[in-house]
Amino acid sequence: MAKNLQILSDFSSKEEKYRNLIVQIEALIRDEPDYIANLANVAAALKQTFDFFWVGFYLLKDGMLVLGPFQGPVACTRIAYGCGVCGTAWKEQRIIVVPDVELFPGHIACSNESKSEIVVPIITASGEVTGVLDIDSDKLNSFDETDAVYLGEIVTSLQIW
Ligand code: SME
Repeated sequence: MAKNLQILSDFSSKEEKYRNLIVQIEALIRDEPDYIANLANVAAALKQTFDFFWVGFYLLKDGMLVLGPFQGPVACTRIAYGCGVCGTAWKEQRIIVVPDVELFPGHIACSNESKSEIVVPIITASGEVTGVLDIDSDKLNSFDETDAVYLGEIVTSLQIW
C-alpha cells in the first residue's frame, strides 16, 4: 500500500477500511483463478488492514475442517463438525461472533493470546459449507455486526470472482 494510503487507512472508520479492503481484494483476485492463492491474499489483506492476531481459512476435507491459508501464529490443523467456534459455525451455517472466547463452551484455544473471535462460514449457492473464515483478536469484544456484514460480503464474493 502506498504510504499516503496507509496513513489514510489508519484514521478511517472500520466501515471505510472494509470498503477500501473490498476494492483491494477484488483487484487482487479478479484475474487469478486459483482459489488457494486468493484465500492466501485475502488472509494477508485482512491481517494487514486490521492487524488482527490471527486470520485464516479452514477448508472442508474428508468430513473435517482442515487448516488452509492463514496469517499469524501456528494453529490447530483439524476441527471436527460441531467442535469449537469453527465447527459450530459449520454445523449451524451462520456467522458466530464471540466477544470473550472463555465464555464460549467448547472453544478451541490455539493460543492463550486469543481473546475474541469471529467465524464466517463459506456456503455455496446450493447451501453446502465448504469452509470457514476464522479471525482471532488479542483483545476482548473486537467484533460486531459491522465485521459480520463486511466479512460475510468478502466470503460470499470469493466464490464468484
Ligand atoms: N478458536 C477456534 C479454533 C481455531 S483457532 O482460533 C485459529 C475454534 O474454537 O474453533
